Amino acid sequence: MTDTDFMPIDGWDHLEIWVGNAKQAAYFYENAYGFTRTAYAGPETGVRDRASYVLEQGEIRFVLTSGLRADSEICKWAATKGDSVRDVALAVPDASNAYRQAVQRGARGVVEPHWIEDDHGRVELAAIATYGDNVHSFVNRSEYSGPYLPGYQAVSPNGPPGAGVGLVAIDHVVGNVELGRMDEWVDFYARVLGFTQLTHFSDEDISTEYSALMSKVMTDGEGKIKFPINEPAEGKRKSQIEEYLEFHGGPGVQHVAMQSEDIVRTVAALREHGVLFIATPDTYYDIVQERVGEIEQNWDDLRSMGILADRDEEGYLLQLFTKIVQDRPTLFFEVIERHGSRGFGIGNFKSLFEAIEREQALRGNL
Ligand code: FE2
Repeated sequence: MTDTDFMPIDGWDHLEIWVGNAKQAAYFYENAYGFTRTAYAGPETGVRDRASYVLEQGEIRFVLTSGLRADSEICKWAATKGDSVRDVALAVPDASNAYRQAVQRGARGVVEPHWIEDDHGRVELAAIATYGDNVHSFVNRSEYSGPYLPGYQAVSPNGPPGAGVGLVAIDHVVGNVELGRMDEWVDFYARVLGFTQLTHFSDEDISTEYSALMSKVMTDGEGKIKFPINEPAEGKRKSQIEEYLEFHGGPGVQHVAMQSEDIVRTVAALREHGVLFIATPDTYYDIVQERVGEIEQNWDDLRSMGILADRDEEGYLLQLFTKIVQDRPTLFFEVIERHGSRGFGIGNFKSLFEAIEREQALRGNL
């Protein structure tokens, strides 16, 4: 805990995803993933170079942004990387302190600390660089009562925002980095944000007949923020991480896990909305019940929704991974329900990766 005293973090603030067409992406996340649109900034609100749609569900906040002209850095991002996460923003009590501490410890500053304000109060912002071209914004919104940020216009939903599909919070955000660079980024989060290592998966844990990867998980003192960092490992064929790096043009966010308190209902609603999930082989359920033991849920419900289960010494978890959400084989999502376990479903990795490789082979990239 003392490690993070220099860098207090209140939790996740938002994820900003830079996309080719935010208007259509917003519709997708609203109608498929159950988000509610709460705020907007763009030409109609006096912003000349971009359009941003703020979507919320539970405590989760996504901001979808696209550029409006070819010379926009957002348009260039969308052209080189496709639709992908640009900013994993953290809520902090003091953005200028967070920025100063991080930069003193070797982070590259991207946005100097500054306040922005409107009639609803003021917000303090700053940002540092992380892997790839990604950033972490520091956001102090303790003196603000408006929607999202000054400059954004509230969007009144048709009635109060509903519970959506039951996604309640971000659980973890996973980064893919180049071969041999995982430890560098593990060290970065330890040094710059005072994070500690939660777990380590070696290529022996995470390998299939064809491909392998290694992963270390960094977390803040209270375990609210979890950043697994993956790197490819040697395998017979191309690792799914290498495929990501090739199509994304470098390191970036591989998947975002979101918590549900009723994963069966959440996955059923997502499926009804057309969200596609990685297929779970029927044979998986022949062995999982013995491996995981007694759980509160009904195995038939889990089987009918294709939901995976895993147990460690602290408890169990239920999880399921979506298929990739754009044409490039890059970003996907995970739905997770935790019952004591703070793990990541290592018992499922092999069956999961075999399923991912079947899709990779269909794309001709394995
Ligand atoms: Fe995950």
